[in-house]
Formats: sequence, structure tokens, C-alpha cells
Amino acid sequence: MCGIVGYIGHRQAAEVILHGLSQVEYRGYDSAGMAVSDGRGMRIIKDVGKLRDIHAKHNFLSLEGGIGLGHTRWSTHGPPCERNAHPHYDCSKKVAVVHNGIIENSRALKAELEKKGHKFTSDTDTEIVAHLIEEELKGKKSSSDSILSAVRSSISRLEGAYALGILVSGEPRLFLARRHAPLIIGKGKKEEMFFASDMAALLGYTRDFVLLNEGDLAALDAKGMQIWSADGSPAVRSPLHVDWTPQMAQKMGHDYFMLKEILEQPLTLAAAVSADVADGVKLLAGAKRPAVVACGTSYYAGLVLQYLLHRQKRTASAYLGSEYASWHTGAEDVVVAISQSGETADTLSAVRLAKKEGAKVLAITNVVGSTLSREADATLYISVGPEVGVVATKTFTGQLAVIYKLAYSLSSNKKGLEELAAMPSQVQQMLDEVHEPVHHLAKLMSKRKNFFFISRGIGWPCALEAALKLKEITYLHAEAYAAGELKHGPISMLEDKVPVIAIAPSGALAPKMESNMRECHARGASIIVLSDDKTILSEGEHSLAMPKVSEDFVPLFYILPLQLLAYYMTIELGRDPDQPRNLAKSVTVE
Ligand code: F6R
Repeated sequence: MCGIVGYIGHRQAAEVILHGLSQVEYRGYDSAGMAVSDGRGMRIIKDVGKLRDIHAKHNFLSLEGGIGLGHTRWSTHGPPCERNAHPHYDCSKKVAVVHNGIIENSRALKAELEKKGHKFTSDTDTEIVAHLIEEELKGKKSSSDSILSAVRSSISRLEGAYALGILVSGEPRLFLARRHAPLIIGKGKKEEMFFASDMAALLGYTRDFVLLNEGDLAALDAKGMQIWSADGSPAVRSPLHVDWTPQMAQKMGHDYFMLKEILEQPLTLAAAVSADVADGVKLLAGAKRPAVVACGTSYYAGLVLQYLLHRQKRTASAYLGSEYASWHTGAEDVVVAISQSGETADTLSAVRLAKKEGAKVLAITNVVGSTLSREADATLYISVGPEVGVVATKTFTGQLAVIYKLAYSLSSNKKGLEELAAMPSQVQQMLDEVHEPVHHLAKLMSKRKNFFFISRGIGWPCALEAALKLKEITYLHAEAYAAGELKHGPISMLEDKVPVIAIAPSGALAPKMESNMRECHARGASIIVLSDDKTILSEGEHSLAMPKVSEDFVPLFYILPLQLLAYYMTIELGRDPDQPRNLAKSVTVE
């Protein structure tokens, strides 16, 4: 969601912040800004729009100094506009604050501060933090100690979620604090320190990080950091080195990250299938009531895990993170939480609830050091490298690969594990074969307005994911149904030439799928069929021949051409597949 970058050291802070923020642009934002201090005074530039446009208009690099912080904002409190963009400041413009998250008691605090004469210039919850610090400093001699204690007592009054960066004019340190929102410290090679909401922002400068714990407060100067835990006691947090390189987050000659990330799946799958799942097997082997929690695309991967566990006669229920509180029984003993970012607030709140009730948590994520990985009892990493496109592609198949490995290791299914190991090269071959036909199909389909995706059994989560991909980036209407459900209502929406995309592999479910396709055809729908079977393929007005794979692997295989279809339709429609409107890469609010 919003991006934060901070710097203190020998370089021009504005340069580092501008670069760092540009690396997290993919998260989606509507306005941006930065505050820079030269050790004496502080200047702020902020505006609505994209970084490059704001830079062209105001020149961020005119802000001189080696201490600064910046922000890309995705509106929650108040519309996108200059005054709501971060950094926010106090009445005297001496305290600048950037913030991700939501401060839940901001109304009460604002009313209290207004009574004391503070004048607010924005609609945001963030601005109260700057005024709280100003209020705490009133009547005190400005010193490093008084500033630290003002920051500490102001933060102690906040309820809700925050990753905060604070710059006080004349103060040679930056302050940061986090609670229920990601924030990491980066260590430079010589006398420079960084902080950011996302490692990707700092990969151009460092791969050595320190992760803050929930409730931590930290102060950075060029030489290092001081950290205090939530109870105020000094704390040491262990360092972390990551292998991700800045090149991994480049387009590598492709027009969009999404296409690069779709096409690199043979490679990322190879990384994911070599995941060490031993800790997960240990946890699940003894579980009596396992549950799965996740959101969006990760939830559809969770449905595949539910399916595989059921096939092993393990009763597991998959819950949407946001719904878990309404459905949990308290008897779940192991909760598998799936999240590519590891920062999704809905998933994290389900995890916290399950933990409170005594469940162990197994995380499946892509991000080392993410909040989920740190709150879980064990973590399985999908290791697919940074996913820059806002919509999930390679992280979905990476999650599936780890899920297959986990399930097959649990049931000692040697054949399944062997088939899984062969997936990356089979996927490469299939991508080579379907790429052009899908591109052609996308040209035809981009003229249509409504889409249905149908399948059965383990193909159903694939239909759900394919419909989600299509609607997220084309903004066209798409719905997915378990094929047997059509006749219970949605079939009434079928009329002349409405495309029904059928995921219809051969196998036990094929005859019923064929009847469902015929039902649709009889209502005038245009059938687009994906199958490995010639007879089934002949049922479609358009068809895409797929290689034969075991039933379990249908979601992993069939989603790839459908990701490509969504991508090329978006290009045909002249839309941006990397940064779809209203969407953010990690959703850190409930
Ligand atoms: C869709 C997409 C979202 C995410 C969802 C959960 O392309 O990316 O539906 O899957 O917001 O995010 P994570 O996996 O980070 O928990």
C-alpha cells in the first residue's frame, strides 16, 4: 500500500528517497512527498500525482541535506490532494511525519489537540502525530532527550496500526516506530542508515536489514541505531541478509512487470518446488483440526490446499482472512496462513485470533522477515523473488508449488513429488505453445464485456483466480462458478455470445463439464474451452489445447494461459496491467 523511505548519511537524502520511492511505486499511490533536513532547517515538497510529475513540477532534488523521509500515499483518510499528502507537520512546521496504517483514536486526539489551540491543515489521521509531538515539546528546552521522550510519549497514545517515520528540524536523528504495519531498517556500508516499508525500496543500496518488532521505537543516526521495545527497554534486533538483487525487480526488456513475471514462472516454480517443507509437515502431521486462512488470490491457493488435505482425509477448512472471526470454532489447532506479502491485515488478524486460542501457525509467504513470518511458529518460503506487478501471478503458482510439496510430503506421495519436480520444464513447454494462440484470443475477447469462468473440483479455484485476474486489470465484468452451479441461477445471465471460459481437463469430471458447456452453448454463449482432450476441445467456439497433467496440477497449469489472456486483453484495452486502479500490492488495513 503506501510506501515509506528514510535516509540519514553522507548522500543527498532526496536522491535516495526519490529512488527508493520509485522502487515501490508498484504498490499503488495517488500522491507523494518528502521532507529533508540539512541539520539546521527542514523543507517539505508534496503534491498529488505520480512521483515523476511531482518531481518535474517541484524538483525534489532542490531539497538539500543528508537527513530525510518520503512517502507515497494511497488515500484512506481524506481524498488525494496536496494537503493530504505526506509528510504532515505540526503548527510550527518543525516536526514532519510519514505514516502507513490507520490511527484508530485519531478523532479523539484531534479534538483534544484542537482544544489546546492546534490548527490542522489536512483530513488525515497522520497529522495528529506531528501535533502530539509539538504539544509534548511545549515549554521544554529542545534537546535530544526531550525530543526522544516527546516522540515516545506521543506514540504511546496511538491506537491502531502504524509504521511511522519522524523528522524533527534541527535534530540529527530520525525516529521510527511500528505496530501492525511493516517497517525495516537498512544498514549502509559506511556511515549511512536507511529505513523503508519494503525491502525493494532499498535493494539498490543495501541487502542488510534489521527488522523491528511490534511496538518498537528506533532512532537512527548515520552511524547506527538505537531500538527500544514496547515497554521502553533498550532492545537488540537480529540482522538479516537477503539474496534479492535490484535486477530481480527490473522489467528485463518486457513492456510490463506482469508479463515478465508470467513468463519467468518456469524459473520461479523451480525455486518454489525446492522449498524445505519439513517444519510444515511436522506441524500438520499432528494436527487434528487444521484450518487455512488467506485473502484474494492467496485464498484460492488455500482452496487447493483444503482440497489436497481433504483427499488425505484430513478435515481442513479454508477461510477468508476477513471472515475467520465469524466462522472459527476455537478448536483449530494448526492454522496455515497464506500471504505473498506476509502483511495482509485481514490474514494477520485471523492469525492473531487463532494464536490467542492456542493454535499453532504455519505461514506460507514470499517475504523473509514479513510480519506473518515473524508471528508464525514456522514459515515456508515460496522464494519467487520480488513480484512488482500489483496483481499476483508468480506468487500464486509459487504458493501452489509449496502447497503441493507440503501435502505430498505429508502423505509420503512419492509419485506426486516426482511429478511436481518435473513441473517447471513442463510449464516452460506449455507456455511456449500457448503464448501466441492466447495473444490472438485476447484480441477477440477484448471486445466483449462480460465473462464467465467455469470448472469443477480442483479446477474451480483456478476458475476463481482466472476471473479475478481478468477483472482486476481489464475492469471488465467476470464471474467464476463451479460449473454445476450455473443452472441454479447464473445461467439466466447467458445470452448471445457471452464468453464462457471452461477449464475442462479430461478425467472423471469431464462428462459433467461437457454437459455444462452444452447447457451454456444452448443459451447462445460462446464457449472457450481449455482441455487436453480433443473431443472436449471440439465443444468450443474457440479452444486452447493443453498438455495432459494429473488432476491435482490443473490449477497450476491452467492458470498460466489465463494470466496471459488477462494480460493481453488489458494491453488491447490500453490499460496498465502493472498498476490497476484502486489496487495496492499489500493491503495493510482491515
Ligand atoms: C490479486 C491479489 C490479491 C492478493 C490479496 C492477498 O491479484 O494480489 O487478491 O492475493 O490481497 O494478498 P497477500 O497474498 O499479500 O496476503
